[in-house]
Amino acid sequence: MTPEFIIVTPQARPYIAHVQLNRPKELNALNLQLMQELRDALQQLDADENVRCIVLSGNDKAFAAGADIKQMAGRTAVDMYNIDQFTIWDGIKKIRKPIIAAVSGFALGGGCELAMLCDMIVASETAKFGQPEIKIGVMPGAGGTQRLTRAVGKALAMEMVLTGRFISAGEALAAGLINRIAPVELFLEDAFRLAADVARQSPLAVKVAKESVLRAFDSTLEEGLHFERKNFYLLFASEDQKEGMKAFMEKREPVFTGK
Ligand code: HXC
Repeated sequence: MTPEFIIVTPQARPYIAHVQLNRPKELNALNLQLMQELRDALQQLDADENVRCIVLSGNDKAFAAGADIKQMAGRTAVDMYNIDQFTIWDGIKKIRKPIIAAVSGFALGGGCELAMLCDMIVASETAKFGQPEIKIGVMPGAGGTQRLTRAVGKALAMEMVLTGRFISAGEALAAGLINRIAPVELFLEDAFRLAADVARQSPLAVKVAKESVLRAFDSTLEEGLHFERKNFYLLFASEDQKEGMKAFMEKREPVFTGK
């Protein structure tokens, strides 16, 4: 079925897929259907061997202004529990290929959390990041108190979560929340360029390396180092390791296959 609230281009560039959030009138507010469509699309792209990296964007004005407040407003705790929307978010968390968020305009609430669920963030000069849930009587629910704190530290995370203050792209870059800033006309292209730098590497090593970096958030240093070492050994079972090292010695570009 064709999705209603996202646009999926599996080969936007060689080996790079583009998923665009597409509810522009609502500033890409994340209703349940959109999130389901997004999860399903990302799972399909994860299984597509012609895709090595995924760029997720909104439009120039908004990446996403948060979960859909109009959809949530009348719900009870029991409704929220039964709907269990975070299972969808967990599905996105399990995507093994790198996802780059290309953020322009608002990335608020669930929108900021969605960007943080991605592996890297490229922002336009107009990007605004925030967790304004406190202003509507709630708090972040899709990782905002955890991923934001890990990314920017306690001081700024506490301020953003307790006051709802938005931060600019410049402040986000200085705080370590995002990778780079580009002018609005160029931010998407810049995200594709970063994706191309990932897509030219061994797709197998990329997936294993992504898993290893993410493990840093869920483990002690000792456990993380152990996990890393096992994965490092594992890659010596791959054709890409042989090809990568042979190409280096032959002074040519490697041809990686993900095998
Ligand atoms: C539903 C939203 C929305 C949202 C904007 N809209 N954000 N609808 N849910 N989160 C709608 C508006 O109602 C309006 O439609 C249209 O988009 C344009 O928005 P305006 O407010 O007219 O635009 P502007 O004046 O430019 O203000 C932009 C804004 C503001 C600062 C981003 O819209 C805003 O504060 N939005 C809510 C941000 C927020 O609180 N996000 C956190 C949500 S809670 P109509 O038809 O009414 O004109 C959350 C929890 C996550 O994310 C938990 C895990 C999933």
